[in-house]
Amino acid sequence: MKNYIELLKKYNQEHILKYVDMVDEKKKNDLINQIEKINFEELNKLYEISNRDNTKAIKGIIIEHIPFVDKYKLEKERKETLTKIGEDIIKNNKYAVVTMAGGQGTRLGHDGPKGTFKLDVLPKPKYLFEILAENLLRENKKYGVVIPWYIMTSTENNEKTVSFFEEHNYFGYPKEDIKFFKQGNLPLLSEDGKLLIDENYNIKIASDGNGSIYKSMKNEGILSDMKKRGIEWIFIGAVDNAILNMCDPILLGLTIDEKNEVASKSVVKANPHEKVGVFCKKDSRPAVIEYTELPDQLAEETDEEGELLYGESHIMCNLYSLKALEKIAEQNLPYHSAHKKANYLDENGKLVKSEVPNGYKYEAFIFDGFNYFDNMTILRGRREEDFAPIKNKEGVDSPETAIKLYNEYWKLD
Ligand code: UD1
Repeated sequence: MKNYIELLKKYNQEHILKYVDMVDEKKKNDLINQIEKINFEELNKLYEISNRDNTKAIKGIIIEHIPFVDKYKLEKERKETLTKIGEDIIKNNKYAVVTMAGGQGTRLGHDGPKGTFKLDVLPKPKYLFEILAENLLRENKKYGVVIPWYIMTSTENNEKTVSFFEEHNYFGYPKEDIKFFKQGNLPLLSEDGKLLIDENYNIKIASDGNGSIYKSMKNEGILSDMKKRGIEWIFIGAVDNAILNMCDPILLGLTIDEKNEVASKSVVKANPHEKVGVFCKKDSRPAVIEYTELPDQLAEETDEEGELLYGESHIMCNLYSLKALEKIAEQNLPYHSAHKKANYLDENGKLVKSEVPNGYKYEAFIFDGFNYFDNMTILRGRREEDFAPIKNKEGVDSPETAIKLYNEYWKLD
């Protein structure tokens, strides 16, 4: 029982003892339990990256352009061959889809899981989850199968997400073929490396980034469920792309043909400073540099034809063999830090709401999984057919821009 006191003392987190004394017995045990589960050594290491200038994250690493295939420059015959390879996989029930829906959508200002955001598209408004369900149902019909659909949620939004699906009768998707699983969390730290307490007297935690998907799929039995079902290829996509193409047989066929285990769809960056990750090679291996870590000089660099050297955007359209997912799940992906606003209780139990970033959040990024392979397939698609992100309340990548792309894609006006 005294273990937590020693732990807090050893790791300079004694301020938490005050909160332990402020609560009733039940809550006290709860809080102690949370403290004892923390990996303080790991947390110390995370704190070390907190103050780093993010654009220095790639310091000392050799960054190079990565080759890709342009879908629209493929010869007709080649296209047909690849399509056939991909379609055979889907038709033979060897294909599954995962949707990452653990994020909070803070920038969008929507109160609730992002997938429950209603987009005012034609002919009638639809929730983001509804759009995804409809798209998958369409593919099921086309290929005469039911594609298993896995949805990653987080501690913050799991309950709301599951009940939302129940309330809407799973949007007509066979219930037994949808599985929800939760991603991981990590404590947030204050600017001086201290744990924070939230308004319910819990250690303040946050989702540990979409890169935690690999370990979560392993720990929550998703990988073994896929294996049991005979799944060989898995598409992982985001919840916030209104025209996300989750079943592109050409992407699948090309990956198999190129004998790769991982693949991704890209679109050309709209401008050098668009907020997207870009594909490249890091020390000769496939990788993505996130927009928060891309130095201006690399963002603006062009080749002899004037094309951006790092102009292939990561649009979260990722494909893996089951073996690749099993392999990545065994690795410890690096963490990246973000300076964020964090509300917390002060030592008198009073809620402090910060208007400026005052804490650090630590996140693993899904694309860091690519770095464990010698090669990957990158297929350049087209923005108007692949990418209608919903990130901001208004302006760029907002509901307004996504609605336009959605209506144009489905030729609705
Ligand atoms: C993300 C990508 C970026 C890409 C852009 C395209 C990462 C780290 N960044 O950036 O490279 O160019 O999308 O739209 O992937 N999510 C979780 N759990 C989390 C955090 C996020 O499930 O802990 C999910 C979200 O629900 C969403 C997706 O990951 O489906 C993207 O998350 P978001 O935080 O919006 O990423 P961006 O900063 O837009």
